[in-house]
Amino acid sequence: MSENELSGEVYYPSKQIVKKAHAKCEKIYEEASTNLEEFWAKEAKNLHWFKKWTKTLDDSNKPFYKWFVGGKTNIAYNCLDVHCETFRRNKIAMIWEGENGDLRALSYFAMKRETCRFANVLKSLGVKKGDRVTIYMGRIPELAIAMLACARIGAIHSVVYGGFSVEALHERLEDSQSKVLIVADGAYQRGKIVELKKIADEALQRAATVESVLVVKRTGHGVNMEAGRDMWYHELMNLPIANNSCSVEIMDAEDPLFLLYTSGTTGKPKAILHTHGGYMVGTYTTLKYVFDIHEEDRYWCAADPGWITGHSYIVYGPMLNGATSFLYEGAPTHPYPNRWWQMIEKYGINILYTAPTAIRGLMRYGDAWPNRHNLSSLRMLGTVGEPINPEAWRWYHKVIGKEKCPIMDTWWQTETGMFMITPMPCTPLKPGSGTKPFPGLVMDIVDEDGNSVKPNEEGYLVIKTPWPAMLRTIYNDPDRYVNQYWSRFPGMYLTGDSARRDEDGYFWVIGRVDDVIKVSGYRLGTAEIESALVSHPAVAEAAAIGLPHDVKGNAIHTYVILRSGFVGSDKLIEELRQHVGHEVGPIAKPETIEIVDSLPKTRSGKIMRRVLKAKALGHDPGNLSTLEE
Ligand code: WTA
Repeated sequence: MSENELSGEVYYPSKQIVKKAHAKCEKIYEEASTNLEEFWAKEAKNLHWFKKWTKTLDDSNKPFYKWFVGGKTNIAYNCLDVHCETFRRNKIAMIWEGENGDLRALSYFAMKRETCRFANVLKSLGVKKGDRVTIYMGRIPELAIAMLACARIGAIHSVVYGGFSVEALHERLEDSQSKVLIVADGAYQRGKIVELKKIADEALQRAATVESVLVVKRTGHGVNMEAGRDMWYHELMNLPIANNSCSVEIMDAEDPLFLLYTSGTTGKPKAILHTHGGYMVGTYTTLKYVFDIHEEDRYWCAADPGWITGHSYIVYGPMLNGATSFLYEGAPTHPYPNRWWQMIEKYGINILYTAPTAIRGLMRYGDAWPNRHNLSSLRMLGTVGEPINPEAWRWYHKVIGKEKCPIMDTWWQTETGMFMITPMPCTPLKPGSGTKPFPGLVMDIVDEDGNSVKPNEEGYLVIKTPWPAMLRTIYNDPDRYVNQYWSRFPGMYLTGDSARRDEDGYFWVIGRVDDVIKVSGYRLGTAEIESALVSHPAVAEAAAIGLPHDVKGNAIHTYVILRSGFVGSDKLIEELRQHVGHEVGPIAKPETIEIVDSLPKTRSGKIMRRVLKAKALGHDPGNLSTLEE
């Protein structure tokens, strides 16, 4: 790319950044586009396989792609055991700070030991290869330990974000048919305790499959322990059964690693399934090249392990790379808005990866808070979760990165498992654009008929090549997998996003075109919010839409029709908000609840959310020919 060819506001990477980078950019793009399979096979060879694969990519049964066919491996073995045979045995795998100031640091050796001990505990409870285990905790090291312990013995973990509540947890327990739930008594958030065990108790009253509940003591406030079902993690870990060594389950590359529920177009959240082999190679490679992790780095992904960003880039990606990862339990502004900047200085963080909503939230407090701290250790910055507005990008670049840190704006999804559109350290950046697809990937923007649109025209964002960390299916629902992602345009994976591409080939993601709302970067479905509202006795019908919000990106706005006999009041509206918080989680609480007499519907009875949205924004609602009345 020659410098004067690019249009618009462009930021060029410094010579030092480019020189240091693992990725010799042009070479990588060229290699990967010349031979995609060879590129990924070469990366896979950097990891440990008990038996090498015979075929890198099997696309004989599209869209059920297989990667590293015949290969035998185990992702947890690659995250821990491999490093324990080198100098990294003594390297810190994870530095953790609690919101209340508690500190812990675990070496790779300690991480492996704790994982083995806990894996033995799980085995003693009868957990076997293929069993589902649900994990529901705040941001504490035990969350990573529990995930890795499951992976070690071939159990399939399903992590439920600690910000979800009763019904969301129940639904996920039920759908995954989990035998074991691992939970914390509570989590610290903004100086208060989120009572996770209490929420779990209520969810368990609705869920039948769970036999054992293992409780990590984090906050130490009193919790109810049900005899015969609930056990303390620390007590189990002190039993002789919690032996320091635990043999590793040899997994087929295509064996399931985890389920992660995410919101989609209609109905209940769906369980996205990822595997040991391809997911491992994808997360390892993308993190190494994009954030350019080096041995001496301290890397901080400030997401939550309960979402895909945390799975791929707090737990698996960093550990596969033998990196030192930092994990912080609490809120960015507790007790003061300098908490993050203070920790960056204190721990000498080199790479910070967060979401636009967090950046905007911190930017509101002004430059004085970050300016009080020495942030010179930072070398790379990153963002994910929603489009970043150029103003927030510039602030992040200037005030946090002191104009020397490139910003990796990474576009990807729960389904993709790894970065898909992202800069590399050598890429000239444009604020608000994720730049280009990762080497070897072919992505496009198409119109209603699946034809590529012209530069700067908006269309559907699609993926045209397979990639190793791609979802393999929706757990227990292969038809939905095919319908949702591969049916709209044959041969193309439908992302659900709209985007445009500029004259330089840079991608600009606009947002979701389906019924997913991104609130503070968290992915929620209109259906989940609506069904929570309708589960309240006063509500007959409900509709939810997302409208732009300065900090959250989008905020949830809802319309409800009351059942006869109920009268709208401020008290009832507040009760409904609390009800959604209780059922789905605090992030899902609607910004507004408007009581209405009717909702715009199609003749087949589907709520036309786009009409509500257009009306709220004062826009033209467009084609109304399908409107019932
Ligand atoms: C949005 C999060 C613009 C997008 C990793 C996508 C983004 C959805 C970006 C997936 C970005 C994610 N720029 N939009 N850099 N990153 N998105 O599954 O709408 O929670 O489809 O995965 O987030 O959300 P999910």
